[in-house]
Amino acid sequence: MSDLSHQPRKIRQTLAIDALLGMDGVPLGKPPEPPEPPAHPEVSADQHRLTSASSPAPAVDIQSMMDIPHPTADAWADAPVGDDLSPDQKQALLDDLNRQYVSGCTKCELCRERKNTVFGVGHPDADLMFVGEGPGRDEDEQGEPFVGRAGQLLDKQIAAMRLSRADVYIANIVKCRPPGNRVPTPDEADQCVPYLLRQIQIIQPKVIVGLGATAVKYLLNDPRIAITRTRGQWRKFHDIDFMPTFHPAYLLRQYTTENRQRVWSDLQAVMAKLGI
Ligand code: URA
Repeated sequence: MSDLSHQPRKIRQTLAIDALLGMDGVPLGKPPEPPEPPAHPEVSADQHRLTSASSPAPAVDIQSMMDIPHPTADAWADAPVGDDLSPDQKQALLDDLNRQYVSGCTKCELCRERKNTVFGVGHPDADLMFVGEGPGRDEDEQGEPFVGRAGQLLDKQIAAMRLSRADVYIANIVKCRPPGNRVPTPDEADQCVPYLLRQIQIIQPKVIVGLGATAVKYLLNDPRIAITRTRGQWRKFHDIDFMPTFHPAYLLRQYTTENRQRVWSDLQAVMAKLGI
């Protein structure tokens, strides 16, 4: 990094954070919108079981989301939610969920080729939760989310927010690697999302960051949503503040200054919301 010692402290901090994120300049003004990335062919609106863009996410609480048809949902109908639980109690519930349901799950075809399920990692009482799409090759090998190249970029983003992986919670829409890193099918996501909902119900984060189109579509219950138009805008996942942003893997593929500025401004909005 160039010598910043003559700059006022605030500017020095900003430049240092930008450099951490791999950015080489301070965002000036609003960058132009990029062309929309192609939709994943696997998630055509017709085959998707979720509601259309014109129907907003239903205003129900997370508990009732658990009532969607899923054998494990019954088991959680009277399960404790995170409001009054200590971090240790939350961790125990998360461990239980993983041990009893996720680690041996055979609800969809993804179980056939997986090496490991990838449950989630981080602080059981985190204020901030990141949700990605699904494990890739490295995550499948190690059983931990976001440990490959995209994960390294996510780590830098988290560090730039003056946090560490241990401060936040990281999970995915699906817990098993889709072969060839394809997008999970709607059926695979439908089978797996109740596990994520239960994780959210236990952790009760203040803010969820949706990383990329798949996470945003499923959490906002809108299969037609365009990440390029939605990112950067505060939404609600039930009563939890929800910030959609680009997936780190997309950012690595489209590593433009504008895209890095967009993601950084989304993360700065999250920092402001959390008072970081
Ligand atoms: N991409 C994701 O969406 N999740 C991971 O865990 C890794 C890469």
